[in-house]
Amino acid sequence: MHPLTLRFPGELEDEFAEEYSARTLTQVRGALVLGLVLYTVFGILDTWIAPAQRPTLWLIRYAIVGPLLALVIGLTYHPSFKRYREPVVSAVVLVAGLGIIAMTAIIPAPGNYLYYAGLLLVIVYAFTLVRLSLPFSMGISAVTIVAYLAVALSMSETPPELIVNNMFFLGSTVVIGFSANYSMSRYARTVFLQRRLIEAHTAQLQEKNEELLAKNQMLAESRAATIRTARRSELIFSALSETLPGTVLDEKYRLAEKIGSGNFGTVYRGEHIFLHHPVAVKIFRPAIGHLALEGIDRFRLEGISACRINHPNAVTVLDFDVSAGSLAYLVMELLNGRSLAEELRAEGRMSPTRCADVAACVCDALAEAHGAGIVHRDIKPSNVFLHHNHSEQLVKVIDFGIAKLTDTSAESDLQVSTVAGMFIGTPAYMAPERFVGDQYDGRADVYSVGVMMYEMLSGHVPFEVGNAGRWALAKKHIVEEPASLTAMNADVDPEMEAIVFDALGKTPGRRPTAQQLGARLHDYLMKAPSQPSPS
Ligand SMILES: Nc1ncnc2c1ncn2[C@@H]1O[C@H](COP(=O)(O)OP(=O)(O)OP(=O)(O)O)[C@@H](O)[C@H]1O
Ligand SMILES: [Mg+2]
Repeated sequence: MHPLTLRFPGELEDEFAEEYSARTLTQVRGALVLGLVLYTVFGILDTWIAPAQRPTLWLIRYAIVGPLLALVIGLTYHPSFKRYREPVVSAVVLVAGLGIIAMTAIIPAPGNYLYYAGLLLVIVYAFTLVRLSLPFSMGISAVTIVAYLAVALSMSETPPELIVNNMFFLGSTVVIGFSANYSMSRYARTVFLQRRLIEAHTAQLQEKNEELLAKNQMLAESRAATIRTARRSELIFSALSETLPGTVLDEKYRLAEKIGSGNFGTVYRGEHIFLHHPVAVKIFRPAIGHLALEGIDRFRLEGISACRINHPNAVTVLDFDVSAGSLAYLVMELLNGRSLAEELRAEGRMSPTRCADVAACVCDALAEAHGAGIVHRDIKPSNVFLHHNHSEQLVKVIDFGIAKLTDTSAESDLQVSTVAGMFIGTPAYMAPERFVGDQYDGRADVYSVGVMMYEMLSGHVPFEVGNAGRWALAKKHIVEEPASLTAMNADVDPEMEAIVFDALGKTPGRRPTAQQLGARLHDYLMKAPSQPSPS
C-alpha cells in the first residue's frame, strides 16, 4: 500500500476498487440524496437573506444543481455507473460547490457572507460522504478554493480580512477532510487485505482438510488390513502354540506343557536338556507387518539386558534368543504357585497387611529395576507371581521390559494398542501420562502398583468403563478421583488409603518413587500387628 495515495500495487488495486465500489454503492447513493435534500432545503433561506436575487439563486438550486444531483442518483442504478463513478460524482459535487460560489457573487455583501459556510460543507462532503478517493476529493477542494479566491478578489465588496479568514477556514476544512478520508480509506483497504488473507487461509485449510481426510481414509483401510493380518497371525500362533510341546529350541530347551497365554505370547514348562534343570519358556507372539522385522531386531539388540533384574523379588531370567529366524523366546526360572491375579480371583479382596506385604515386595523389585533404567510398563496382578519355595512364599515380578521390547512405536500406548491391538497390557492399570503419549518413567509403574493395591483392597480396579472403550477409561484415569477405600472395606485404615491414593497421583510429580512407596509400606508393616508374611 502506498503510504500517501494508499494505492495497492498492480491488479490488487483494480480488485479493491471493484469490491469497494460494490460495497459502498448504497452509501454513495444515500449521500447524493442527502446532498440533494440539503441543497434544495437551504433554498428557503434565500427568501429571507436575498429576496431580490431569489429567482437567480433558485435557478441555480432548482434548475441546475438539483436536477443534476437527481440525474446522478438515477445513474447510480445503471450497471456501468461503477466504472465512471469517481469522475461523475466529482463533477456533480464540483458543480454544487461552484453553484455556491456563484451565489456568493450574486448576493451583495454582507448577505453573501452567510453562504461561505456552504463551501465548507461541500469540501467535507467531498472528502467523506461520497467516498471519493484522495486525488478526486483533493481536486474538488482545490478547484473550489481557487474559484472562491478568484470570485472574492474580483468582487470589490469582499474585504481582504474576510478573504484571509475564509481561506483559513477552507484550509482547515481541507486538512480535517483529508485526514478523515485518509483514515477511512486506510481502514477499508486494511479490512480488504485481511479478508483476502482469511480467504487464502481458509482455502489452504480446506485443501489440508481434504488431504487429511484422504490420509485418514488410507489409514483406516491400512488399519483394517492390519487387524485382518493380526487376526490371521493370531490363529496361526494359537495353532502353533498347541504343537510346540515336545519341540526342542536351539538344541537347548525342550518344551513341555503349556502353562498359560497372555498378550505377548505363551508360557511353557520346559527343561534345559543338558543341565536337566526345569525352566519356564515364554514364546513371543510374532509381530505383524513391518513391525515384525523391527521387533526381531529390537529383541536381538536389547534382549536379555532389557528383561533381567537382579533382585529376589524379580523372576530370574536365564536366557533370551530368537529361534528359527523369527521365534523370540525368553527362558526363566520355573515358578511354583499362582499369580496374584489368580489369587484375587480365588480369594476376593485382601487384608491391608497382606496387600502391603505383596506391594512392598513389588516396589523393592521395581526400585532395583528403575535404578538400572528399566521401567516395567505392565505392572498388573497377572505379572506378580506368588511363588512357593519350600515352605516360604516369595513375591516375584515377571515380564520386566517385555512391554518395551514389543512396542515398536513412538506413539502413545493407547494409539499403539488401538492400532495393533496387542502391544500393551491392560489399560486399567495404566498411568494417565501414558494415555496421552507423554514421556514417562518409573513413576508410571508406581501408579500401576497403586491400581493393583486398590484392587487388592476393594476387589476391583479404581476405574472401570465396561464396554465404553479405551478413551472413556483414559478420561477417567486422567481426571477422575477414585472412590474412597475406607468406605468400601472397613479393614482399610486411613493411612493405607493415603498410601494407595498417593501412588494414584494424577501426575508423576505427585507420586512417590518405587523406593519411597516401598519404604512407606515397610513402615506400615512394622506398625501393623504381626502376620505371616511373604518376602
Ligand atoms: N516363570 C514362570 N513360571 C511359572 N509360570 C509362569 C512364569 N511366567 C509366567 N507364568 C505364568 O504363565 C501364564 C502366562 O503368562 P503371560 O505373561 O504370558 O500372561 P499374562 O501375564 O496374563 O499376560 P501378559 O502377556 O500381559 O503379561 C500366567 O499364568 C503366568 O502366571
Ligand atoms: Mg505376564
